[in-house]
Amino acid sequence: MEQVRIGIIGLGIMGESYAKIYSAHPLAQVVAVSSRRQQRVDEICSKYDIACGYTEYKKMLERKDLDAVVVATPDAHHFIPARDVLQSGRHALVEKPFTTSVAEADELLRIADAANLKIQVAFNHRWLAPYFHAKTQIAKGEIGMPLAGFARKNDTIFVPTEYIPWAGDTTPAWFLSSHDIDLMRWFFASEPVEARAWGSKKVLVERGVPTYDIIQSQVKFASGAFATFESAWVYPNTFPSLVDSFVEVVGGAGHIHLDRKCESIEISTESGFAYPKCFLNMEVFGRVRGAFASCLEDFLYAVLKNSTPYVTGFDGRQVTATLAAIHESLESGASVAVQQPDGGDNARG
Ligand SMILES: NC(=O)c1ccc[n+]([C@@H]2O[C@H](COP(=O)([O-])OP(=O)(O)OC[C@H]3O[C@@H](n4cnc5c(N)ncnc54)[C@H](O)[C@@H]3O)[C@@H](O)[C@H]2O)c1
Repeated sequence: MEQVRIGIIGLGIMGESYAKIYSAHPLAQVVAVSSRRQQRVDEICSKYDIACGYTEYKKMLERKDLDAVVVATPDAHHFIPARDVLQSGRHALVEKPFTTSVAEADELLRIADAANLKIQVAFNHRWLAPYFHAKTQIAKGEIGMPLAGFARKNDTIFVPTEYIPWAGDTTPAWFLSSHDIDLMRWFFASEPVEARAWGSKKVLVERGVPTYDIIQSQVKFASGAFATFESAWVYPNTFPSLVDSFVEVVGGAGHIHLDRKCESIEISTESGFAYPKCFLNMEVFGRVRGAFASCLEDFLYAVLKNSTPYVTGFDGRQVTATLAAIHESLESGASVAVQQPDGGDNARG
């Protein structure tokens, strides 16, 4: 059976998930992985039976036997490894947010387009069945023309203070609202054109993490619809889930609510009460299933069938442009136009 020969850059929480899923997938072969710490490289290679590990990803890219490479580094560090992956002639599966500047995103699209390479951005929520159903219902006109949306993704304070060591180099909007902005573009079938945002920096700064506690933004779309995006990193750790996730779309003839605060399961024990996360990334009968695993699998099909990924580099670029406008507005206090693509088909790859 034909397989996609995969390399992975970054072996943190997400990088390990890629190694786990792809090393168990019949259509993938994880040829090599890379991370900056030798101990971590050795640990992942031995755990998932991967033959080659590197502490310098550029050495890994010198191999001749790679078809595609995953970039799973922190938010602000996707561009350079993704650029090097594409320049080495490999397809790229890049974690969200695609990049943290529009110029970087445009540069990646330009390189991929010139070399006829695929980019998929890991906006895995599109593979979640209720979200996909919402998209198809909206596209069929079941709720009328989308008029407005609201999306909240709020984490417990555990995430910026313990879970990711680089929270001070990003914001809850880059980390969390990136998913929701991608969803809203998809649901509205329209592109963001203008953003206005407000944020608070108090609690996390006092805890030694120099970033926003909470950001709310309002984004106007070309269709005339508008949406509010909220992302927070300060829910108390007593909240029964790592993340409180809610999306609403109001149309002229109906509405859709997608509430993932509780993913169908609630557990109380003598030590606590929890809504365990099950829908994105959960082992079932010995293999990881859920939207994240499906997103990874469809990247393999896109490479093997030479088809366009369901979430492209252009989608990543549009989300980055919206978030760039949101962050400019946070600093300036003014409404900011979302930087539009120059045009041309190269922006769509
Ligand atoms: N798609 C999703 O649902 C989802 C969920 C969580 C995180 N993420 C994204 O995945 C990415 C990785 O997150 P994570 O939680 O695995 O982070 P992590 O801190 O656990 O892992 C990051 C890895 O990158 C390496 N690294 C750090 N800086 C680097 C650099 N400059 N060059 C090369 N390697 C570098 C680190 O050594 C580590 O191995 C982030 O962009 C994050 O937003 C996506």
